[in-house]
Amino acid sequence: MPPSTERPLVRLIVGSVRPIRVGDQLAEAIAPIVAEAADARVELVDLAELDLPLLDEPRMPALGDYQREHTKAWSRIVAESDAVVFVTPQYNGGYPAALKNAIDFLFHEWRGKPALIVSYGGHGGGLSGAQLRGVLEFIGLELAGQNVELTLPRDGYDEGGRLRDAAAIVASHEEPLRAAAATLRRVIRSTAPAPAA
Ligand SMILES: Cc1cc2nc3c(=O)[nH]c(=O)nc-3n(C[C@H](O)[C@H](O)[C@H](O)COP(=O)(O)O)c2cc1C
Repeated sequence: MPPSTERPLVRLIVGSVRPIRVGDQLAEAIAPIVAEAADARVELVDLAELDLPLLDEPRMPALGDYQREHTKAWSRIVAESDAVVFVTPQYNGGYPAALKNAIDFLFHEWRGKPALIVSYGGHGGGLSGAQLRGVLEFIGLELAGQNVELTLPRDGYDEGGRLRDAAAIVASHEEPLRAAAATLRRVIRSTAPAPAA
């Protein structure tokens, strides 16, 4: 947590890495709402751009003895964030392998990290969010309130496979998203170290 005059840094992790996807559109639309409701600086972290290979650290990440530059870079991104928001689709009743891989690269960076889960899918991606919650609780993140579930209408896609109006879909879930972001803000405050006397 930065000094009390500075707003916390919240990073939105885009959990889909498909070449044609909608997760980036949804994250873009979610960002300003989270920024306002959590009174935070918000940045997107796109796992597609991060382009992590399948976990290739020789030693167990819990040991923190990272050998790969991409792991060190990813570690810094998470460690420097005051909170993270996982924006995840539902794939076959779970969350994407790329997201699990990115989570598994690190360990201590996650522990105690305030976090929020936003899932999406034809029915809100609830199974994905629930599965992700179980893993994040196991690792020891500080999850803020309920998961937010964004329902994507079947006719919401254009011919290229992108959302026609991601902002409208997110706006239709604005109330639970704002409530969850406000809870995230409280979790960030409650986990921040006390200022030096
Ligand atoms: C591999 C795969 C599995 C999917 N499984 C589900 C599912 O279990 N439930 C659901 O509602 N939608 C499912 N969908 C549809 C996704 O919700 C939809 O394609 C969404 O756009 C995926 O997010 P993305 O475009 O950001 O990757 C699946 C899509 C893919 C590609």
